[in-house]
Amino acid sequence: MSSSIFSFALSVFFLSSFTLSLNSIITDKNALISLKNSITSNPYAILSTNWSQNTSVCNWIGVSCGLKHHRVIALNLSGYDLAGTVSPHLGNLTFLRYLDISYNRFTRILPFELSKLRRLKVMNVGANSFTGEIPTWLGSLPQLEELYLHNNIFLGNIPEEIGNLSQLEVLSIPDSSLIGNIPSSVFNISSLKFMDLYNNSLSGNIPSDMCDSLPNIEVLRLWTNQLSGEIPPNIWKCTHLQDLELSVNHFNGKIPSEIGNSSMLRKLYLGVNDFRGKIPEQIGNLSQLEVLSIPTASLTGNIPSSLFNISSLKYVYLFNNSLSGNIPSNICDGLPYIEVLHISANQLYGEIPPNIWKCTHLQDLELSVNHFNGKIPSEIGSLSMLRELYLGFNDFRGMIPKEIGNLSQLEILSIPASSLTGNIPSSVFNISSLKFIDLSNNSLSDIWNTKHLDTLYLFNNNLSGTISPTIGNSSMLRVLYLGDNHFTGIYT
Ligand SMILES: *[C@@H]1O[C@H](CO)[C@@H](O)[C@H](O)[C@H]1NC(C)=O
Ligand SMILES: *[C@@H]1O[C@H](CO)[C@@H](O)[C@H](O)[C@H]1NC(C)=O
Ligand SMILES: *[C@@H]1O[C@H](CO)[C@@H](O)[C@H](O)[C@H]1NC(C)=O
Ligand SMILES: *[C@@H]1O[C@H](CO)[C@@H](O)[C@H](O)[C@H]1NC(C)=O
Ligand SMILES: *[C@@H]1O[C@H](CO)[C@@H](O)[C@H](O)[C@H]1NC(C)=O
Ligand SMILES: *[C@@H]1O[C@H](CO)[C@@H](O)[C@H](O)[C@H]1NC(C)=O
Ligand SMILES: *[C@@H]1O[C@H](CO)[C@@H](O)[C@H](O)[C@H]1NC(C)=O
Ligand SMILES: *[C@@H]1O[C@H](CO)[C@@H](O)[C@H](O)[C@H]1NC(C)=O
Ligand SMILES: *[C@@H]1O[C@H](CO)[C@@H](O)[C@H](O)[C@H]1NC(C)=O
Ligand SMILES: *[C@@H]1O[C@H](CO)[C@@H](O)[C@H](O)[C@H]1NC(C)=O
Ligand SMILES: *[C@@H]1O[C@H](CO)[C@@H](O)[C@H](O)[C@H]1NC(C)=O
Ligand SMILES: *[C@@H]1O[C@H](CO)[C@@H](O)[C@H](O)[C@H]1NC(C)=O
Repeated sequence: MSSSIFSFALSVFFLSSFTLSLNSIITDKNALISLKNSITSNPYAILSTNWSQNTSVCNWIGVSCGLKHHRVIALNLSGYDLAGTVSPHLGNLTFLRYLDISYNRFTRILPFELSKLRRLKVMNVGANSFTGEIPTWLGSLPQLEELYLHNNIFLGNIPEEIGNLSQLEVLSIPDSSLIGNIPSSVFNISSLKFMDLYNNSLSGNIPSDMCDSLPNIEVLRLWTNQLSGEIPPNIWKCTHLQDLELSVNHFNGKIPSEIGNSSMLRKLYLGVNDFRGKIPEQIGNLSQLEVLSIPTASLTGNIPSSLFNISSLKYVYLFNNSLSGNIPSNICDGLPYIEVLHISANQLYGEIPPNIWKCTHLQDLELSVNHFNGKIPSEIGSLSMLRELYLGFNDFRGMIPKEIGNLSQLEILSIPASSLTGNIPSSVFNISSLKFIDLSNNSLSDIWNTKHLDTLYLFNNNLSGTISPTIGNSSMLRVLYLGDNHFTGIYT
């Protein structure tokens, strides 16, 4: 008796759960059909051919169903170039965990009904044309871990309600037109690992106790905004920070020495801000650092010698500051992997160390507009990866070393206004990759063939005699300035 009641109850349970799931997948299907109907352009005809009424929605392209409830758990229509609006009925996909409609041409607002997607973990609506303000209801998606809203036409502020997303790990809203402060509630999401608000018009400060409430942050990308105030000295408490990008803002004050304790940092971008003072010596403690970029930031003082000791460094951009001091003679022992050294437009002096040849990965060496002196070391010719060499507006003396002709990857050779004398080595003109030469405003006295060149500036030298007939053979040459020399004739 009891067993038949039990089996009756069981079969009712199965039946009802079957019809429930049947009803529910019909709900999901209706929701997807509503979406399909709100799409006005479907260039690859994906939805019209594939989203066929006769087949299960679980076989539709971009749709994934869960095994347990047999409901739609993921909708990924990224990059199908779909145009139209997002149907509010999409909010009926209540089992949805992943929604990715990025890289399409959806317009209008994100419908309020999407706030019913309470199981959503990932929402990516980036690279569309959604308008209006960023919806406050996003703050009511309790499971949300990743939110991507980039490259839309969202206006106004970042809503404070985003701070309610206590599981959020990724907040990505670059390339929008957001204004106002970053709400303090956002700096309070302790789960956050990745915050990208690059290229907006956000203003205000970074809270000084930020790292107390963002202990897990790995990437903080805030460059190209209107942010101001100081970099919080407690930045070192963000012990997982790998990538700090604050360039092109109005940050001021000193770069805190405590930054040297952010031992996981790999990328540090602080340029184009209103700092004062020196580069802190403690920066040399960043033993994982690969990119150090602080151009145009009113920095003074020497480049700390500890910086030339960070063996992980690959890219150094410190141009357009007021840095002084010289390049240590053993620079390449400390920076064996350096690829870009761009320290133009400072007040640096001394010689280019001959041991520069040991920086075997160097591709871009920019030392222009400083007070470097001495000879250009012939050892530069051993930098076989070098593509760009800018040494102009310095106080060199002597000749261009003929070994420069060994730089078989060189594309740009720029040494104007640097007191150079003698011939331009013929080997230079044999570098087939070379596109651009600027040796103007020196005291050079001879010139050779220019077969591969795009641009040649040699004005204001002591070049004389006849211009090489091969100039006429330079099919690539677009720009040629030879004025203020002493030529006596030109072959045609
Ligand atoms: C979505 O759900 C709402 C509310 O339950 C309902 O009124 C609407 O008809 C549903 N939409 C579809 C397409 O089933
Ligand atoms: C729709 O696309 C999926 C995935 O490519 C495929 O498995 C399915 O057979 C297609 N259905 C129809 C009706 O074309
Ligand atoms: C869907 O069903 C209709 C009518 O039952 C049929 O004409 C059509 O060929 C079917 N389409 C597919 C893709 O099975
Ligand atoms: C959606 O598909 C694209 C392309 O296959 C993929 O890169 C992206 O990670 C997917 N989105 C989600 C949320 O899984
Ligand atoms: C968000 O959190 C605030 C308190 O910070 C609360 O008042 C509000 O109800 C929450 N909003 C949502 C949409 O959950
Ligand atoms: C910044 O974002 C705007 C859209 O708001 C975009 O048009 C522009 O190309 C972006 N600029 C950069 C440098 O990425
Ligand atoms: C930050 O979080 C703490 C604890 O969760 C809470 O007490 C505080 O009100 C929050 N502050 C802001 C500005 O949201
Ligand atoms: C930073 O690191 C140095 C050296 O490891 C240590 O002496 C100092 O106490 C640290 N500073 C802070 C604020 O933790
Ligand atoms: C950090 O840098 C300071 C100054 O350069 C130095 O005295 C200290 O030993 C460094 N600490 C560590 C752990 O490298
Ligand atoms: C160099 O810095 C000055 C301010 O110090 C700025 O006005 C100028 O635009 C910068 N030049 C370049 C090329 O970045
Ligand atoms: C550079 O590193 C070496 C070895 O790690 C160390 O002995 C030296 O003191 C460091 N120099 C500077 C200026 O930090
Ligand atoms: C470098 O150039 C010099 C002079 O032009 C030449 O003698 C030497 O063999 C070259 N070295 C290499 C490695 O090509």
